[in-house]
Amino acid sequence: MRFSAPLIALLATSANALSLYGGAEKAIIAGDDELDVPGENPLKFCEADRTKDHIIIDSVILTPNPPEAGKVLKIAASGDVKHEIEEGAYVNLSVKYGYIRLINTKADLCEEIKNVDLECPIKKGPIAIIKEVELPKEIPPGKYTVLADVYTKDGEHITCLTAAVTFGAKSALGNFNIDL
Ligand SMILES: *[C@@H]1O[C@H](CO)[C@@H](O)[C@H](O)[C@H]1NC(C)=O
Repeated sequence: MRFSAPLIALLATSANALSLYGGAEKAIIAGDDELDVPGENPLKFCEADRTKDHIIIDSVILTPNPPEAGKVLKIAASGDVKHEIEEGAYVNLSVKYGYIRLINTKADLCEEIKNVDLECPIKKGPIAIIKEVELPKEIPPGKYTVLADVYTKDGEHITCLTAAVTFGAKSALGNFNIDL
Protein backbone atom coordinates (compact mmCIF):
# COMPACT_ATOMS: atom_id res chain seq x y z
CA MET A 1 0.00 0.00 0.00
CA ARG A 2 1.27 3.39 -1.02
CA PHE A 3 0.70 5.04 2.31
CA SER A 4 2.24 2.45 4.46
CA ALA A 5 5.64 3.90 5.32
CA PRO A 6 4.50 7.23 6.73
CA LEU A 7 1.51 5.58 8.24
CA ILE A 8 3.55 3.13 10.14
CA ALA A 9 5.47 6.00 11.67
CA LEU A 10 2.22 7.74 12.47
CA LEU A 11 0.87 4.55 13.85
CA ALA A 12 3.88 3.85 15.95
CA THR A 13 3.46 7.28 17.43
CA SER A 14 -0.22 6.88 17.98
CA ALA A 15 0.07 3.38 19.26
CA ASN A 16 2.75 4.36 21.68
CA ALA A 17 0.85 7.31 22.91
CA LEU A 18 -2.45 5.58 23.00
CA SER A 19 -1.54 2.26 24.42
CA LEU A 20 0.53 3.66 27.18
CA TYR A 21 -1.15 6.74 28.25
CA GLY A 22 -4.67 5.68 28.05
CA GLY A 23 -6.63 4.85 31.07
CA ALA A 24 -9.19 6.03 33.43
CA GLU A 25 -9.33 9.33 35.10
CA LYS A 26 -9.73 9.06 38.80
CA ALA A 27 -13.03 10.77 38.73
CA ILE A 28 -15.30 12.13 36.14
CA ILE A 29 -14.99 15.88 36.16
CA ALA A 30 -18.44 17.34 36.11
CA GLY A 31 -18.95 20.05 33.55
CA ASP A 32 -15.97 19.12 31.39
CA ASP A 33 -16.20 16.79 28.48
CA GLU A 34 -15.70 13.61 30.39
CA LEU A 35 -14.08 11.91 27.41
CA ASP A 36 -11.28 14.43 26.99
CA VAL A 37 -7.86 13.19 28.02
CA PRO A 38 -6.34 15.78 30.40
CA GLY A 39 -3.51 17.90 28.96
CA GLU A 40 -2.72 19.36 25.56
CA ASN A 41 -3.66 16.62 23.13
CA PRO A 42 -6.27 15.50 20.62
CA LEU A 43 -7.02 12.32 22.56
CA LYS A 44 -10.30 11.10 23.92
CA PHE A 45 -11.21 8.18 26.07
CA CYS A 46 -13.50 5.68 24.36
CA GLU A 47 -15.69 5.27 27.40
CA ALA A 48 -17.03 7.43 30.18
CA ASP A 49 -16.84 4.61 32.71
CA ARG A 50 -13.18 3.82 33.26
CA THR A 51 -13.38 2.60 36.83
CA LYS A 52 -12.21 -0.93 35.94
CA ASP A 53 -9.34 0.15 33.72
CA HIS A 54 -5.85 -0.99 34.70
CA ILE A 55 -4.17 2.32 33.83
CA ILE A 56 -5.30 5.72 34.98
CA ILE A 57 -4.14 8.62 32.89
CA ASP A 58 -3.30 11.90 34.55
CA SER A 59 -1.99 13.91 31.64
CA VAL A 60 -0.73 13.76 28.07
CA ILE A 61 1.04 16.74 26.58
CA LEU A 62 1.88 16.78 22.89
CA THR A 63 4.10 19.47 21.43
CA PRO A 64 3.10 20.66 18.93
CA ASN A 65 -0.56 19.98 19.50
CA PRO A 66 -1.98 18.86 17.14
CA PRO A 67 0.98 16.92 15.69
CA GLU A 68 2.41 18.21 12.41
CA ALA A 69 3.92 16.24 9.56
CA GLY A 70 7.65 16.77 9.18
CA LYS A 71 8.10 17.99 12.74
CA VAL A 72 9.38 16.36 15.87
CA LEU A 73 6.51 15.41 18.13
CA LYS A 74 7.28 15.56 21.79
CA ILE A 75 5.16 13.38 24.03
CA ALA A 76 5.02 13.75 27.79
CA ALA A 77 2.61 11.61 29.71
CA SER A 78 1.91 10.50 33.21
CA GLY A 79 -0.45 8.13 34.83
CA ASP A 80 -0.96 5.46 37.40
CA VAL A 81 -0.76 1.72 36.86
CA LYS A 82 -3.32 0.02 39.05
CA HIS A 83 -2.37 -3.58 38.24
CA GLU A 84 0.97 -4.78 36.96
CA ILE A 85 0.93 -5.07 33.16
CA GLU A 86 2.32 -8.42 32.08
CA GLU A 87 3.44 -10.16 28.90
CA GLY A 88 0.52 -11.08 26.71
CA ALA A 89 -1.20 -7.72 26.93
CA TYR A 90 -2.37 -6.57 23.53
CA VAL A 91 -3.73 -3.59 21.72
CA ASN A 92 -6.46 -3.77 19.12
CA LEU A 93 -5.62 -0.95 16.82
CA SER A 94 -7.54 0.57 13.97
CA VAL A 95 -6.59 3.47 11.76
CA LYS A 96 -8.89 5.13 9.30
CA TYR A 97 -7.98 7.64 6.62
CA GLY A 98 -11.17 9.55 6.05
CA TYR A 99 -13.69 6.75 5.82
CA ILE A 100 -11.16 4.23 4.56
CA ARG A 101 -9.99 1.63 7.02
CA LEU A 102 -6.24 1.38 6.59
CA ILE A 103 -5.30 -0.77 9.52
CA ASN A 104 -7.17 -3.11 11.77
CA THR A 105 -4.80 -5.19 13.78
CA LYS A 106 -3.93 -6.79 17.07
CA ALA A 107 -0.48 -5.83 18.34
CA ASP A 108 1.64 -7.05 21.25
CA LEU A 109 1.62 -4.26 23.82
CA CYS A 110 4.89 -5.35 25.43
CA GLU A 111 6.61 -5.13 22.02
CA GLU A 112 5.12 -1.73 21.24
CA ILE A 113 6.15 -0.10 24.48
CA LYS A 114 9.81 -0.80 23.79
CA ASN A 115 9.48 2.18 21.44
CA VAL A 116 9.05 4.41 24.45
CA ASP A 117 11.84 2.72 26.39
CA LEU A 118 9.58 0.73 28.68
CA GLU A 119 9.39 -2.98 29.15
CA CYS A 120 7.02 -5.50 30.62
CA PRO A 121 6.17 -6.12 33.32
CA ILE A 122 5.14 -2.56 34.05
CA LYS A 123 4.98 -2.29 37.79
CA LYS A 124 2.08 -0.98 39.70
CA GLY A 125 2.36 2.68 40.64
CA PRO A 126 3.00 6.04 39.03
CA ILE A 127 4.46 6.11 35.55
CA ALA A 128 5.84 8.97 33.48
CA ILE A 129 7.39 9.04 30.06
CA ILE A 130 8.90 11.59 27.73
CA LYS A 131 9.59 10.76 24.13
CA GLU A 132 10.40 12.57 20.93
CA VAL A 133 9.28 11.13 17.63
CA GLU A 134 10.07 12.44 14.20
CA LEU A 135 6.95 12.53 12.05
CA PRO A 136 7.65 12.01 8.36
CA LYS A 137 7.07 14.90 5.95
CA GLU A 138 5.27 12.62 3.51
CA ILE A 139 2.19 11.87 5.57
CA PRO A 140 -0.63 12.13 3.02
CA PRO A 141 -2.86 15.06 3.94
CA GLY A 142 -6.25 14.28 5.37
CA LYS A 143 -8.00 13.15 8.47
CA TYR A 144 -6.76 10.13 10.38
CA THR A 145 -8.75 8.46 13.10
CA VAL A 146 -6.93 6.12 15.42
CA LEU A 147 -8.50 3.82 17.98
CA ALA A 148 -6.47 1.77 20.43
CA ASP A 149 -8.22 -0.62 22.76
CA VAL A 150 -5.88 -2.32 25.21
CA TYR A 151 -6.41 -5.58 27.12
CA THR A 152 -4.50 -7.91 29.39
CA LYS A 153 -3.89 -11.42 28.15
CA ASP A 154 -6.98 -12.49 30.09
CA GLY A 155 -9.11 -9.88 28.39
CA GLU A 156 -9.30 -7.40 31.24
CA HIS A 157 -9.50 -3.82 30.10
CA ILE A 158 -6.36 -1.72 30.41
CA THR A 159 -7.55 1.33 28.54
CA CYS A 160 -9.08 2.59 25.33
CA LEU A 161 -8.22 5.81 23.55
CA THR A 162 -9.12 7.42 20.31
CA ALA A 163 -7.76 10.40 18.40
CA ALA A 164 -8.56 12.27 15.23
CA VAL A 165 -5.71 14.18 13.64
CA THR A 166 -5.80 16.13 10.40
CA PHE A 167 -2.59 16.63 8.49
CA GLY A 168 -2.57 19.58 6.12
CA ALA A 169 -1.96 19.57 2.40
CA LYS A 170 1.00 21.91 2.60
CA SER A 171 3.23 19.36 4.27
CA ALA A 172 2.97 17.12 1.23
CA LEU A 173 2.91 19.74 -1.49
CA GLY A 174 5.39 22.39 -0.48
CA ASN A 175 3.59 25.54 0.53
CA PHE A 176 0.40 25.18 -1.41
CA ASN A 177 -2.71 25.21 0.66
CA ILE A 178 -5.55 23.23 -0.75
CA ASP A 179 -9.14 23.37 0.35
CA LEU A 180 -10.23 19.85 1.06
C1 LIG B 1 -9.08 -7.84 19.23
O1 LIG B 1 -8.84 -8.19 17.90
C2 LIG B 1 -8.86 -9.58 17.65
C3 LIG B 1 -8.40 -9.83 16.23
O2 LIG B 1 -9.04 -8.95 15.34
C4 LIG B 1 -10.27 -10.09 17.93
O3 LIG B 1 -10.33 -11.48 17.70
C5 LIG B 1 -10.63 -9.78 19.36
O4 LIG B 1 -11.97 -10.14 19.61
C6 LIG B 1 -10.44 -8.32 19.68
N1 LIG B 1 -10.60 -8.14 21.10
C7 LIG B 1 -11.52 -7.35 21.62
C8 LIG B 1 -11.62 -7.40 23.09
O5 LIG B 1 -12.23 -6.63 20.94
